[in-house]
Amino acid sequence: MSKKFSQPHLLGIKDITRDDIELVFETADNFKAIINRPIKKVPSLRDVTVANIFFENSTRTRISFELAQKRLSADIVNLSASSSSVSKGETLIDTVNNILAMKVDMVVMRHPAPGACQFLSKHVDAQIINAGDGTHEHPTQALLDAYSIREKLGDVKGKKIVIVGDITHSRVALSNIYCLKKLGAEVMVCGPTTLIPKHIESLGVKVEHDLMKALNWCDVANMLRIQLERQDIKYFPSLREYSMLYGLNKERLDKLNKEIVIMHPGPINRGVEITSDVADSAHSIILDQVENGVATRMAVMYLLAGQQG
Ligand code: CP
Repeated sequence: MSKKFSQPHLLGIKDITRDDIELVFETADNFKAIINRPIKKVPSLRDVTVANIFFENSTRTRISFELAQKRLSADIVNLSASSSSVSKGETLIDTVNNILAMKVDMVVMRHPAPGACQFLSKHVDAQIINAGDGTHEHPTQALLDAYSIREKLGDVKGKKIVIVGDITHSRVALSNIYCLKKLGAEVMVCGPTTLIPKHIESLGVKVEHDLMKALNWCDVANMLRIQLERQDIKYFPSLREYSMLYGLNKERLDKLNKEIVIMHPGPINRGVEITSDVADSAHSIILDQVENGVATRMAVMYLLAGQQG
């Protein structure tokens, strides 16, 4: 019997199993081979209609989902907050139900409110994929990040991964922690006290405030963006001071007596959390992450659609 994804939606990594994650990886391996062929398209999602609804800005996630859908031969409709009737006062449920009335099967949604995708999944009759909900989860980012570590280092299990920066406001951090822990990695978070949530150790992660100690400990450093748009108060004196203490630069990398893998989910604030020479160096797998996003998202949508059969 072929393996199936355990959930009808992808709302967060918290809800899925290690087997689900490994199934996504195995499926993504096949799709990655396909999208590197001259003929990149397969008919797997022919007759499936997907709505991409983005109430927050996005470059990578939105284009990656759209390309993944096109490679799978799905029909696509795109809606953004600025062009939707939400700006005229329509509720989220009404907006989505109106789209579903036009026979849409799957909704990929990014929304600024944590829990918006869970809410939607309880009120509308479609499969929901969370493309980032506020400061809560960004499950496909975590899947493509873990897939990229597996590709680079052979396995995720037993690897030491430090997530550096604005953990408090990051949906990428929470989804990565759930995903990496489920796969058996050791996870550390590093940053100023103000940007690390209290009690985060209860998720089974180490906390370190000294960047050099964290870099000496890890195999992989995932450098997060400072999310100024989500910061209601000042969490550190200045970007310059943040960069002096927590920015990854060549000088810091040269002081290590080993090589580490550098990741960043994007968009990058060059010169703040990471300097250009490091972001563009041979240690960096930032563009591999972007490439793997398409295959990973193809796998997620293929597996979810397979549940309907
Ligand atoms: N990593 C990520 O979510 O990037 P976008 O905001 O560009 O989608």
